[in-house]
Amino acid sequence: MPTNKTFTMIKPDAVEDGNSGSIIQMIEKAGFRVVALKKTQLTPERAGQFYEVHKERPFYNDLCKYMSSGPIIPMILEKQNAVADFRTLIGATNPANADEGTIRKLFAKSIEANAIHGSDSDENAGIEGNFFFGGLEQF
Ligand code: RTP
Ligand code: MG
Repeated sequence: MPTNKTFTMIKPDAVEDGNSGSIIQMIEKAGFRVVALKKTQLTPERAGQFYEVHKERPFYNDLCKYMSSGPIIPMILEKQNAVADFRTLIGATNPANADEGTIRKLFAKSIEANAIHGSDSDENAGIEGNFFFGGLEQF
């Protein structure tokens, strides 16, 4: 069943560059409500679990190293059509291909250090939200 929630993380490059405030402002201006938010840092092992689906890809080890290299800001967001609308707001994986005005066009440095994550399905939004916020409360 479709939900109205998605999951995102502001990635280490964007946190390090001081862009998290601007990014959260863009997210809220686009009509998303922040349901849960924290600042945390992944170990390489936990980054590996999060991106397990990519473990056969050539970029997997670099991705785990990068995603554990500094603080991140995971969030659960709410809006009608949240998953698809959020993917539109962040833009293409590679910022060189991202549309003007998207978060990755504005803030991403490279295909890897691309500022922000967005869940690709309702099912993954639930799994990823629980990865960071599960246990205590139901979102
Ligand atoms: P995300 O999961 O972070 O929202 O990104 P996405 O769906 O747009 O891209 P995905 O294919 O799921 O890749 C996950 C993350 O891996 C890094 N990546 N590096 N070096 C490379 O060729 C490469 N390709 C992907 C990026 O950080 C990407 O967001
Ligand atoms: Mg993805």
